[in-house]
Amino acid sequence: MSRLRLPKVAKKSPAEVELMRQAGAILARTLTKLCEAVRPGVSTAELDELAEAEIRGAGAIPSFKGYNGYPAALCAEVEEVVVHGIPRKSEILREGTLAGFDLGCIYQGWHSDAAFTAAVGEVDELRQRLLRVTAECLDRAIAAVRPGAQLAQVCRAVQDHAEAEGFGVVRSLVGHGIGRRMHEPPQIPNFVDNGGFAEYDLVLRPGMTLAIEPMITAGTYEVRVDADGWTTRTADGKPAAHFEHTVAVTKDGASILTPYRCQP
Ligand code: MF3
Ligand code: CO
Repeated sequence: MSRLRLPKVAKKSPAEVELMRQAGAILARTLTKLCEAVRPGVSTAELDELAEAEIRGAGAIPSFKGYNGYPAALCAEVEEVVVHGIPRKSEILREGTLAGFDLGCIYQGWHSDAAFTAAVGEVDELRQRLLRVTAECLDRAIAAVRPGAQLAQVCRAVQDHAEAEGFGVVRSLVGHGIGRRMHEPPQIPNFVDNGGFAEYDLVLRPGMTLAIEPMITAGTYEVRVDADGWTTRTADGKPAAHFEHTVAVTKDGASILTPYRCQP
Protein backbone atom coordinates (compact mmCIF):
# COMPACT_ATOMS: atom_id res chain seq x y z
CA MET A 1 0.00 0.00 0.00
CA SER A 2 1.38 3.37 -0.94
CA ARG A 3 0.93 6.30 1.36
CA LEU A 4 0.29 9.72 -0.14
CA ARG A 5 2.45 12.38 1.33
CA LEU A 6 0.81 15.41 2.91
CA PRO A 7 2.30 18.45 1.18
CA LYS A 8 3.99 21.17 3.17
CA VAL A 9 1.77 24.25 3.08
CA ALA A 10 3.46 27.63 3.63
CA LYS A 11 1.84 29.83 6.27
CA LYS A 12 2.01 33.55 5.73
CA SER A 13 2.68 36.06 8.50
CA PRO A 14 -0.01 38.68 9.21
CA ALA A 15 2.12 41.25 7.33
CA GLU A 16 2.36 38.92 4.33
CA VAL A 17 -1.39 38.31 4.37
CA GLU A 18 -1.87 42.10 4.31
CA LEU A 19 0.30 42.34 1.17
CA MET A 20 -1.77 39.59 -0.41
CA ARG A 21 -4.87 41.58 0.57
CA GLN A 22 -3.46 44.56 -1.34
CA ALA A 23 -2.88 42.35 -4.40
CA GLY A 24 -6.41 41.05 -3.92
CA ALA A 25 -7.88 44.54 -3.67
CA ILE A 26 -6.34 45.48 -7.04
CA LEU A 27 -7.72 42.29 -8.54
CA ALA A 28 -11.15 42.81 -6.97
CA ARG A 29 -11.45 46.36 -8.35
CA THR A 30 -10.50 45.04 -11.78
CA LEU A 31 -13.00 42.17 -11.69
CA THR A 32 -15.76 44.54 -10.51
CA LYS A 33 -15.02 46.76 -13.52
CA LEU A 34 -15.07 43.73 -15.82
CA CYS A 35 -18.43 42.75 -14.37
CA GLU A 36 -19.79 46.22 -15.15
CA ALA A 37 -18.40 45.96 -18.71
CA VAL A 38 -20.10 42.64 -19.52
CA ARG A 39 -22.84 43.25 -22.11
CA PRO A 40 -23.88 41.95 -25.52
CA GLY A 41 -21.52 43.21 -28.25
CA VAL A 42 -18.31 43.55 -26.24
CA SER A 43 -15.36 41.35 -27.30
CA THR A 44 -13.36 39.25 -24.90
CA ALA A 45 -10.20 40.92 -26.30
CA GLU A 46 -11.54 44.34 -25.19
CA LEU A 47 -12.14 42.97 -21.71
CA ASP A 48 -8.61 41.53 -21.65
CA GLU A 49 -7.22 44.99 -22.51
CA LEU A 50 -9.35 46.62 -19.82
CA ALA A 51 -8.11 44.09 -17.25
CA GLU A 52 -4.45 44.45 -18.13
CA ALA A 53 -4.61 48.27 -18.13
CA GLU A 54 -6.35 48.34 -14.75
CA ILE A 55 -3.82 45.97 -13.15
CA ARG A 56 -0.78 47.75 -14.55
CA GLY A 57 -2.28 51.15 -13.65
CA ALA A 58 -2.38 50.00 -10.03
CA GLY A 59 1.32 49.06 -10.10
CA ALA A 60 0.70 45.31 -10.32
CA ILE A 61 1.54 42.68 -12.94
CA PRO A 62 -0.94 40.37 -14.69
CA SER A 63 0.20 36.91 -13.56
CA PHE A 64 -1.35 34.80 -16.32
CA LYS A 65 0.42 36.55 -19.20
CA GLY A 66 3.42 34.42 -20.13
CA TYR A 67 2.54 31.70 -17.61
CA ASN A 68 3.51 28.50 -19.47
CA GLY A 69 3.19 30.63 -22.61
CA TYR A 70 -0.38 31.79 -21.96
CA PRO A 71 -0.82 34.83 -24.25
CA ALA A 72 -3.23 37.10 -22.33
CA ALA A 73 -3.91 38.68 -18.92
CA LEU A 74 -7.44 37.32 -18.77
CA CYS A 75 -9.05 33.91 -19.23
CA ALA A 76 -12.48 34.25 -20.91
CA GLU A 77 -14.91 31.43 -20.19
CA VAL A 78 -17.81 31.81 -22.61
CA GLU A 79 -20.76 29.37 -22.31
CA GLU A 80 -19.31 25.83 -22.44
CA VAL A 81 -15.73 27.01 -21.90
CA VAL A 82 -14.87 25.98 -18.35
CA VAL A 83 -11.45 27.63 -18.04
CA HIS A 84 -8.44 29.02 -19.94
CA GLY A 85 -10.27 30.54 -22.92
CA ILE A 86 -7.93 32.91 -24.78
CA PRO A 87 -9.60 36.31 -25.38
CA ARG A 88 -10.19 37.13 -29.05
CA LYS A 89 -11.32 40.19 -31.00
CA SER A 90 -13.71 37.92 -32.89
CA GLU A 91 -15.31 36.56 -29.72
CA ILE A 92 -18.28 38.85 -29.12
CA LEU A 93 -20.46 38.32 -26.04
CA ARG A 94 -24.01 37.38 -26.96
CA GLU A 95 -27.31 37.92 -25.11
CA GLY A 96 -28.50 34.83 -23.28
CA THR A 97 -25.08 33.27 -22.70
CA LEU A 98 -22.74 32.94 -19.74
CA ALA A 99 -19.36 34.64 -19.65
CA GLY A 100 -16.75 33.89 -17.00
CA PHE A 101 -13.54 35.77 -16.30
CA ASP A 102 -10.51 34.47 -14.44
CA LEU A 103 -7.70 36.87 -13.59
CA GLY A 104 -4.57 36.97 -11.47
CA CYS A 105 -2.08 39.65 -10.46
CA ILE A 106 1.20 40.02 -8.60
CA TYR A 107 1.72 43.00 -6.28
CA GLN A 108 5.02 43.44 -4.42
CA GLY A 109 5.80 39.80 -5.12
CA TRP A 110 2.47 38.42 -3.85
CA HIS A 111 -0.17 36.73 -5.95
CA SER A 112 -3.94 36.86 -5.98
CA ASP A 113 -6.30 34.91 -8.22
CA ALA A 114 -10.08 35.20 -8.63
CA ALA A 115 -12.88 34.51 -11.09
CA PHE A 116 -16.60 35.07 -11.62
CA THR A 117 -19.19 34.08 -14.19
CA ALA A 118 -21.91 36.50 -15.27
CA ALA A 119 -25.03 36.45 -17.40
CA VAL A 120 -24.80 38.36 -20.68
CA GLY A 121 -28.16 40.18 -20.72
CA GLU A 122 -31.05 37.88 -19.80
CA VAL A 123 -30.34 34.15 -19.51
CA ASP A 124 -32.69 31.18 -19.16
CA GLU A 125 -33.62 29.44 -15.93
CA LEU A 126 -30.95 26.72 -16.28
CA ARG A 127 -28.15 29.27 -16.67
CA GLN A 128 -29.49 31.39 -13.80
CA ARG A 129 -29.54 28.34 -11.55
CA LEU A 130 -26.05 27.24 -12.65
CA LEU A 131 -24.70 30.70 -11.81
CA ARG A 132 -26.43 30.87 -8.45
CA VAL A 133 -25.48 27.35 -7.41
CA THR A 134 -21.82 27.74 -8.42
CA ALA A 135 -21.57 31.01 -6.48
CA GLU A 136 -23.19 29.24 -3.52
CA CYS A 137 -20.66 26.39 -3.87
CA LEU A 138 -17.86 28.91 -3.41
CA ASP A 139 -19.67 30.55 -0.45
CA ARG A 140 -20.17 27.16 1.21
CA ALA A 141 -16.57 26.13 0.63
CA ILE A 142 -15.36 29.38 2.20
CA ALA A 143 -17.76 28.89 5.11
CA ALA A 144 -16.14 25.48 5.74
CA VAL A 145 -12.70 27.08 6.11
CA ARG A 146 -11.59 27.39 9.74
CA PRO A 147 -8.53 26.36 11.77
CA GLY A 148 -8.76 22.69 12.65
CA ALA A 149 -11.02 21.80 9.71
CA GLN A 150 -9.81 19.19 7.26
CA LEU A 151 -9.47 20.31 3.67
CA ALA A 152 -11.86 17.49 2.65
CA GLN A 153 -14.69 19.40 4.36
CA VAL A 154 -14.10 22.31 1.98
CA CYS A 155 -14.03 19.97 -1.04
CA ARG A 156 -17.17 18.15 0.10
CA ALA A 157 -19.10 21.39 0.59
CA VAL A 158 -18.77 22.10 -3.13
CA GLN A 159 -19.54 18.60 -4.37
CA ASP A 160 -22.57 18.05 -2.13
CA HIS A 161 -24.26 21.28 -3.19
CA ALA A 162 -23.51 20.98 -6.92
CA GLU A 163 -24.56 17.35 -7.18
CA ALA A 164 -27.73 17.88 -5.11
CA GLU A 165 -28.73 20.29 -7.90
CA GLY A 166 -27.92 17.73 -10.59
CA PHE A 167 -24.83 19.56 -11.80
CA GLY A 168 -21.38 18.16 -12.68
CA VAL A 169 -18.17 18.82 -10.75
CA VAL A 170 -15.10 19.07 -12.97
CA ARG A 171 -12.51 16.51 -11.84
CA SER A 172 -9.45 17.33 -13.95
CA LEU A 173 -8.94 20.88 -12.62
CA VAL A 174 -8.58 21.95 -8.98
CA GLY A 175 -8.00 24.96 -6.76
CA HIS A 176 -4.66 25.58 -5.08
CA GLY A 177 -2.60 27.25 -2.42
CA ILE A 178 -1.28 30.67 -3.43
CA GLY A 179 1.33 33.13 -2.18
CA ARG A 180 4.69 34.04 -3.64
CA ARG A 181 3.69 31.70 -6.45
CA MET A 182 0.30 31.42 -8.19
CA HIS A 183 0.16 27.68 -7.57
CA GLU A 184 1.40 26.31 -4.25
CA PRO A 185 0.39 23.26 -2.24
CA PRO A 186 -2.24 22.18 -1.37
CA GLN A 187 -4.27 21.16 -4.41
CA ILE A 188 -7.93 21.87 -3.64
CA PRO A 189 -10.30 19.50 -5.48
CA ASN A 190 -14.01 20.34 -5.61
CA PHE A 191 -14.87 16.70 -4.89
CA VAL A 192 -13.97 14.00 -2.40
CA ASP A 193 -14.89 10.79 -4.21
CA ASN A 194 -11.79 10.35 -6.30
CA GLY A 195 -9.12 9.42 -3.76
CA GLY A 196 -5.65 10.26 -4.86
CA PHE A 197 -5.26 13.55 -3.03
CA ALA A 198 -3.17 13.48 0.14
CA GLU A 199 -4.48 17.01 0.66
CA TYR A 200 -7.85 15.77 1.94
CA ASP A 201 -6.26 15.14 5.33
CA LEU A 202 -4.65 18.55 5.52
CA VAL A 203 -5.67 20.39 8.69
CA LEU A 204 -6.19 24.09 8.02
CA ARG A 205 -4.21 26.58 10.09
CA PRO A 206 -4.20 30.39 10.36
CA GLY A 207 -1.94 31.97 7.74
CA MET A 208 -2.64 29.44 5.00
CA THR A 209 -3.76 31.20 1.80
CA LEU A 210 -5.97 29.33 -0.63
CA ALA A 211 -7.48 29.88 -4.08
CA ILE A 212 -10.80 28.04 -3.96
CA GLU A 213 -12.46 27.67 -7.35
CA PRO A 214 -15.50 25.50 -8.04
CA MET A 215 -15.91 24.66 -11.74
CA ILE A 216 -19.46 23.37 -12.22
CA THR A 217 -21.21 22.10 -15.35
CA ALA A 218 -24.84 21.74 -16.44
CA GLY A 219 -24.15 18.21 -17.76
CA THR A 220 -21.17 15.90 -17.78
CA TYR A 221 -18.11 16.84 -15.76
CA GLU A 222 -15.84 15.61 -18.56
CA VAL A 223 -13.88 18.34 -20.35
CA ARG A 224 -11.85 18.59 -23.57
CA VAL A 225 -8.94 20.89 -24.42
CA ASP A 226 -8.89 22.62 -27.84
CA ALA A 227 -5.99 22.35 -30.28
CA ASP A 228 -4.71 25.70 -28.92
CA GLY A 229 -3.67 23.73 -25.84
CA TRP A 230 -5.65 26.03 -23.50
CA THR A 231 -9.36 26.45 -24.15
CA THR A 232 -11.08 23.86 -21.95
CA ARG A 233 -14.71 23.05 -22.78
CA THR A 234 -17.36 20.71 -21.43
CA ALA A 235 -17.30 17.47 -23.43
CA ASP A 236 -21.06 17.67 -24.05
CA GLY A 237 -21.14 21.37 -24.93
CA LYS A 238 -23.43 22.26 -22.01
CA PRO A 239 -22.70 25.50 -20.15
CA ALA A 240 -20.27 25.76 -17.22
CA ALA A 241 -19.69 28.29 -14.44
CA HIS A 242 -16.59 29.15 -12.41
CA PHE A 243 -16.19 31.32 -9.32
CA GLU A 244 -12.94 31.79 -7.42
CA HIS A 245 -11.67 33.74 -4.42
CA THR A 246 -8.27 33.93 -2.80
CA VAL A 247 -8.82 33.56 0.96
CA ALA A 248 -6.67 33.54 4.09
CA VAL A 249 -7.36 31.17 6.97
CA THR A 250 -7.79 33.33 10.08
CA LYS A 251 -8.11 32.38 13.74
CA ASP A 252 -11.86 32.04 13.45
CA GLY A 253 -12.58 31.29 9.79
CA ALA A 254 -11.65 32.70 6.40
CA SER A 255 -11.00 36.21 5.16
CA ILE A 256 -11.72 36.87 1.46
CA LEU A 257 -8.73 38.70 -0.07
CA THR A 258 -10.40 39.31 -3.47
CA PRO A 259 -13.77 40.92 -2.56
CA TYR A 260 -15.02 41.74 -6.09
CA ARG A 261 -18.68 42.55 -6.56
CA CYS A 262 -20.60 40.71 -9.28
CA GLN A 263 -23.75 39.05 -8.01
CA PRO A 264 -25.44 36.43 -10.19
N1 MF3 B 1 -6.52 30.94 -12.62
C1 MF3 B 1 -5.93 29.74 -13.11
C2 MF3 B 1 -5.68 28.83 -11.95
O1 MF3 B 1 -6.19 29.05 -10.93
C3 MF3 B 1 -4.66 29.96 -13.83
C4 MF3 B 1 -4.85 30.35 -15.20
S1 MF3 B 1 -3.76 29.54 -16.18
C5 MF3 B 1 -3.04 30.75 -17.08
O2 MF3 B 1 -4.98 27.89 -12.04
F1 MF3 B 1 -2.22 30.23 -17.88
F2 MF3 B 1 -3.96 31.42 -17.69
F3 MF3 B 1 -2.39 31.53 -16.28
CO1 CO C 1 -6.80 29.67 -9.50
